[in-house]
Order: sequence, then C-alpha cells, then structure tokens
Amino acid sequence: MAENYDVAIIGAGAAGMMCAIEAGKRGRRVIVLDHAKAPGEKIRISGGGRCNFTNIHTTPKAFLSANPHFCKSALARFTPQDFLAMVERHGIAWHEKTLGQLFCDDSAKDIIRMLLTEIREAGVSLKLSTAIEAVERGVGGYRVLTSEGRIDCASLVIATGGKSIPKMGATGFAYKIAEQFGLSLLETRPGLVPLTLDPSELERLASLSGVAVDARASVGKASFDEALLITHRGLSGPAILQISSYWREGGDISLRLLPALDIAKAVKDARRGQGKQALQTVLSEHLPKRLAQFFVELAGLHTKSLADLSDKVIDGFCARLSDWRIKPAGSEGYRTAEVTLGGIDTGELDSRTMQARNIDGLFFIGECVDVTGWLGGYNFQWAWASGFAAGQAA
Ligand code: FDA
Repeated sequence: MAENYDVAIIGAGAAGMMCAIEAGKRGRRVIVLDHAKAPGEKIRISGGGRCNFTNIHTTPKAFLSANPHFCKSALARFTPQDFLAMVERHGIAWHEKTLGQLFCDDSAKDIIRMLLTEIREAGVSLKLSTAIEAVERGVGGYRVLTSEGRIDCASLVIATGGKSIPKMGATGFAYKIAEQFGLSLLETRPGLVPLTLDPSELERLASLSGVAVDARASVGKASFDEALLITHRGLSGPAILQISSYWREGGDISLRLLPALDIAKAVKDARRGQGKQALQTVLSEHLPKRLAQFFVELAGLHTKSLADLSDKVIDGFCARLSDWRIKPAGSEGYRTAEVTLGGIDTGELDSRTMQARNIDGLFFIGECVDVTGWLGGYNFQWAWASGFAAGQAA
C-alpha cells in the first residue's frame, strides 16, 4: 500500500533537511528519503569534523554558475545570519576561524543533531536505508518506488547532492532524474580538489613535499590568497582547492609566493646591511627553507652572496617567485573533491522556488544545481538557502 505525503524529499543532506524543516513548519506532510544509514554524512565529516557551516561574507560573487544571477534570490532570503540564529537557538558554540568562516567549537554532529531536532519538531518523517527504485508522474503529483514501498506525493524535491566522494554514497541520481524529465544539464566536474602533477614534475618538486607557504593562486582573473601545500601527489591546500574550480585541463596556474611581501625589496634591504649573506639565508627568513633552496639552486645563485647580485638579477629572480607557473596534469577527481561543479542548468529552474519551470511540483536544491561556492562555508550556505527557498514553495 502506498503512503501519501504532500512533499517527498530525496536526500537527507544539508539541503534536503533544511527544505523538510521549512515545508514541515508550513504544515505540509513531509517525508525525507535517503539510501544512507545516517542523515547528513557530509556534514559530519565537513570542516575537519567541526563543520564550516556558513560564511558571514556570503555574496553571490562567491559562487560559480553559468548564470551568476541565479543564486541571488535564494541567498537573499536565507542569509548566514538566519542560519546562525538557528545555531544559537540550539545553544551550539561556534567561532569564526578566518575569512568569515564559522565553525562549531565542538563537533559537526551538533549541526546534524540541530537539524534532526528541527525536523522532529516540524513533524517530518525520515526514512533512511531506503533505495529509490524509480520516480514516476502519478495522479496529482509523483510516485516514488522505493525498497520500502511506494510513496505518493504532490511535490517532489531532489536533494541528492553531487558526485563528490562516491565512497560516502554520492550518486548521479539528481542528474538522472533531470534527464528523465527532460531538463538540461551542464557538464559536471570535480571542484575544490587537489591538483596532480605528471611524474617528471613530481620528481622535480620531490624535495618540496610537505612544504606549506602563503601564496596567491591565479587562473585568468580568479585569484585566491591562501595557503599552498606541496604534497607527494601534487598541489593542495586552500589556495589550490579554490583555484581548482577555475582551472581547466591543459592550462597552467600562476603562484605568487608570499603575496603580502615585496620580496625584491626585502632582498635589496638585506644586501645593504648584510652583503656577505647568501640569498638563500635571507629568503629563508620569509619562505620555508626547502623552498628557498629550491629556487636559489634553480636560478644557479646558490654560490653567490647578496653583494654579488645586481638589482636586475634580484628583480629577475624575485619575478619567478611572483609568477611561478605550474601546469597540473589533472585533479584527484571526485574521490577527494569537496564539491561538484556544473549540474542542473539553472535556466530550467525558478530562482525563487527552485521548482522546474515547466514541471509543476518538481524541485532541485543543493549541490546538484549548477551553483558551486568557494571553499569556506559557502557551499553549506547554498544548501541551506536553496533548501529554504524550496521549503517555502513545495
Ligand atoms: P549532500 O551530499 O549533503 O546530501 C545528499 C544526500 O542525498 C546524502 O544524504 C546522500 O546519502 C543522499 N543520496 C545521494 N544519492 C541518493 C540516492 N540515489 N538515493 C537516495 N539518497 C541519495 N561545505 C561547506 O560549506 N563547509 C565545509 O566545511 C565543507 N566541508 C566539506 C568536506 C568534505 C570532505 C566534503 C566532501 C564536502 C564539504 N563541503 C563543505 C561541501 C558540502 O558538504 C556540500 O556542498 C553539501 O553537503 C551539499 O549539500 P546537499 O544537501 O546538496 O548534498
């Protein structure tokens, strides 16, 4: 026998749970279905276990999308302050780490508990370990065939996320449903992901494995000042994760080491007072020692003292530190990517409600939509905001 609901939401992640809470509060009879054993698994592992749950500097500029205007309406109607108010209402201790990024003091599990409490209070049913076998149009709505029986609903919300981290249950489900209903998709690719290097480049940089340094990573007009980490597989750290969302195969990235420092001036100042010093010694005051050594040897300046170096040589050397070009071989892919770029074409959705423009009662929210945030709490803010928008309408 079929169960009957006003709203069925597939996906008990960040977006799905927020949508359920809002729809439930409106008095809608809501069920959330998920194939996983536990809800909010990505919330649990996010932010190193402390969940970077929002960013107080959220603006539409922090999102990549073929239509940069699409996210504006939802982000304006559910803001970081709105989410923070919920966090505070539940007595969850939080702190700002850096760059407007808000984290739980204790554990990401506090956010999951908060959402589950809200879900319960809104009278929402939650069905886990439930495989979705098919979705069909039914009389007055939709019919969801699951391993646990049939659900009939007036509104169907797809909140199954992107393809990132398949080991945690990510599937391309949302894209399949979009295709089934004739909605167009934009090419998907891993975002916020470490970049890999080819074997010869890895060998060249082998002595730098484990080195971390402040850098400005740029591709075209996009650039991010954050930490760069060189690993035994390639490049990582926040600066690289950020720029990975803009990088395309075959292109290179530019790294400006120590973007806040005028390195040439620092070297010339040192030459004035301590001309006998080696270039490497001065650089090591600012850069990790192994990195300083790498660049000085690369330039063939390791036997010179500062007094031997002309302004021209110093400027030429420092220019290399300001525009270190690296051509990644690829990325680590969905295995480690934090998000999926691309997805459901926003042109197919109403930006106020997330409902498919031409299909009554069918909604898409969260990461499966072609809206992807920078690193730093923006992706959860999109999940909350798009979930809230659909929750008001479904
Ligand atoms: P989400 O992936 O959260 O939820 C989808 C749900 O659908 C899951 O519960 C899944 O089991 C279910 N599902 C999938 N396929 C299904 C199917 N076929 N049938 C039934 N159910 C199905 N962002 C941020 O802002 N701050 C942070 O600190 C981090 N940290 C972070 C760390 C790591 C390691 C990752 C991988 C990602 C992050 N993110 C992040 C990104 C953030 O986790 C992501 O953007 C949101 O979880 C997206 O929310 P959704 O609800 O759209 O999908």
